[in-house]
Amino acid sequence: MAEKVATLHLPGQEPIELPIMSGTAGNDVIDVRQLGSKGYFTFDPGFLATAACESQITFIDGEKGILLHRGYPIEQLADNSEYLEVCYLLLFGQRPTEKQYEQFKETVTRHTMVHEQLIHFFQGFRRDSHPMAIMVAVVGALSAFYHDSLDVTNERHREIAAYRLLSKMPTLAAMSYKYSMGQPFVYPRNDLSYAGNFLNMMFSVPTEEYIVNPIVEKAMDRIFMLHADHEQNASTSTVRLAGSSASNPFACIAAGIACLWGPAHGGANEACLAMLEQIGSVERIPEFIERAKDKDDPFRLMGFGHRVYKSYDPRAKVMQQTCHDVLEDLKIDDRLLDIAMELEHIALTDDYFIEKKLYPNVDFYSGIVMRAIGIPTSMFTVIFALARTVGWIAHWIEMLQTPGQRIGRPRQLYTGEAMRDFPTTSRQKE
Ligand code: CMC
Repeated sequence: MAEKVATLHLPGQEPIELPIMSGTAGNDVIDVRQLGSKGYFTFDPGFLATAACESQITFIDGEKGILLHRGYPIEQLADNSEYLEVCYLLLFGQRPTEKQYEQFKETVTRHTMVHEQLIHFFQGFRRDSHPMAIMVAVVGALSAFYHDSLDVTNERHREIAAYRLLSKMPTLAAMSYKYSMGQPFVYPRNDLSYAGNFLNMMFSVPTEEYIVNPIVEKAMDRIFMLHADHEQNASTSTVRLAGSSASNPFACIAAGIACLWGPAHGGANEACLAMLEQIGSVERIPEFIERAKDKDDPFRLMGFGHRVYKSYDPRAKVMQQTCHDVLEDLKIDDRLLDIAMELEHIALTDDYFIEKKLYPNVDFYSGIVMRAIGIPTSMFTVIFALARTVGWIAHWIEMLQTPGQRIGRPRQLYTGEAMRDFPTTSRQKE
């Protein structure tokens, strides 16, 4: 018997003892697994109070604004680490030794090229396709190229797939951009860092040399790091659910990309910049604040609010600093940043936002940084997907390694028609 139990009284039944489970941090959970056999399900659309799994990767304390990867606070990782080291940490649970890290980087670097035939997939798309539409398709298509690593029950196969995805995402993301621009694809360069290589594949052209600006490279690395994982968010849960049927890793990550695309999730950074453009000037902010508060108006302040954070998103704080560094270094005087700063100030002092605990989230600043770097808005969510791939894979591997892992299969409260007979007569006339 568990140390702590919750007692549930159901009509006409003996009280049921439900074990209470505790983790290392965060809310305790009530284990309701036996309820199905008692003729009941729990009802929690949107997973507001449901822990869908046990996990050791990332922890968020939304009230205190804490984000930990394998126990390490995101602010400390942002100051003292880099994206690929965080990737190692997420995938393997521990900080790498120097030798392990060198080996890890070497392996990631040596898998960055994609099969030449994948180029034909790109050519099937219209030039004005949204790059996320391309990413969903080409990442899913990887499963047709790498048959040698599709046995999800094989630990080595899972690892190879993890390396392939981590290595090839920047290449595919840059290809989707180059395709939309009508420019030739740029092959990866093994002498550059993960972020530097991505920038080179995005911005270099055969006619002139592209030199990676170290401030921009650092900012890109930070954007990747701040988006690397965020525990059981919608897209990660999608990847876990897709993977629970033993589906192949590339298909699972394509499912994650599809989920991330929406404006309530990864699409928010794109939507946030569109909103700042729409606001247009500092003077018009009050008008939009009023609209955001109006229940009859669907308008929301993009880049504000979070399901879990009910305090400042710690990633937003780091991103805000990076945003200033980049704008200063590139000597960019961006009117959108002025609007963003004023909007943040007003929202943080407005009763509506204070009461509902709506703070700026990571997407609020990342869009401005990416715009300063020269990344078009349509690529924002693609970059989020690129960076989040490691988190998706870490969760996918963790799920498959869990003893007794079963297919994810939610239940429902059926409110449709009760059973009835289908009429044998002909259809009713209008
Ligand atoms: N602007 C105005 N009001 C808001 C906003 C907003 N951005 N976000 C939430 N609210 C209000 C909402 O109207 C509701 O009010 P009421 O209780 O009176 O009905 C209350 O706050 C709670 O909102 P909710 O929609 O029930 O909260 P949720 O946890 O289901 O949604 C969210 C979280 C992130 C989808 C939502 O805050 C939102 O739509 N924000 C804008 C989009 C955005 O920035 N998304 C990026 C999230 S961070 C990146 C990521 O992890 O993907």
